[in-house]
Amino acid sequence: MHFIIMTSVIMAHHMHEPSLKMYPKTPINIAHRGASAYAPEHTLAAYRLALEMKADFVEPDLQITKDGVLICMHDETLDRTTNVKTVFPDRSRNVKGKERWLVADFTLAEIKSLDAGSWFNAKFAGEKVPTFQEMLDLVRGKAGIIPETKSPESYESQGISMEKLVMEFLKTNKLDQPGADPATPVVIQSFSQASLKKLRAEYSCKLPLLLLYERATRDTFSPENLRELKNLVEGVGPSKLLVDQFPNLIKDSHEVGLSVTIYTCRSKQTGKFADVKAEMKYYLKLGVDAIFTDNPDQFPR
Ligand code: G3P
Ligand code: CA
Repeated sequence: MHFIIMTSVIMAHHMHEPSLKMYPKTPINIAHRGASAYAPEHTLAAYRLALEMKADFVEPDLQITKDGVLICMHDETLDRTTNVKTVFPDRSRNVKGKERWLVADFTLAEIKSLDAGSWFNAKFAGEKVPTFQEMLDLVRGKAGIIPETKSPESYESQGISMEKLVMEFLKTNKLDQPGADPATPVVIQSFSQASLKKLRAEYSCKLPLLLLYERATRDTFSPENLRELKNLVEGVGPSKLLVDQFPNLIKDSHEVGLSVTIYTCRSKQTGKFADVKAEMKYYLKLGVDAIFTDNPDQFPR
């Protein structure tokens, strides 16, 4: 009897152990879109700066060009962070009443002809939109990468699987298995649970996965839901506001073996805190494991 109880205690304990370790150590400093407070987001300049600032991970958001190449860009459209309007004035389409220049409508060669730096500051004129491969070649061996599948449904509706492309990319680069390159750990993140499911079920992804949250109800982070979620992912990625709103989130996530990564701490938006370093200190003290920040140089050490 005693043996049975002990065995079930051990089994229960194991069921709650993380199957994979999300990060090689904690806390983790993630350069959000590169060191994007100081250089134009998702340019090699921003990634280079993130490495100089000793970020543990660098984040590329991913989009797909018309000719099927993964590039690093936050938006589905090119108009906010490049001079596409000037270079290709006639290539927009009307999306919900607005003229937009979709990444999916442009080849890589066309996108490479754009300036991705001037919008941020004239001194970055000539910066280009990097491919995921160029990003990896820069960062590999110096930091981890945490690619985000962006707008996967939108590509899916055009018959393109972002998840397939990402896994093929990682396989080609021999990074598709956990621990493949200890100097370059890989975590995949998404706001889309369906995208993460697809990575696991259809593409046999064994890498740690992070599910992001922008909104939540009272039930989202209930112990039951978190336990269920642990069958799919290794970590939750709530906005910092959700951590404020749900004070048990960190403790309950840790209890079922999920890590907690928050977004986004940035010097231009520190709310009640004196500066971004004080803000990050606060959340680290609460127990978060990792922080996306535009200011990786301000991460408390
Ligand atoms: O991926 C974490 C954080 O970057 C989510 O926000 O909109 O900057 O991708 P967003
Ligand atoms: Ca992101």
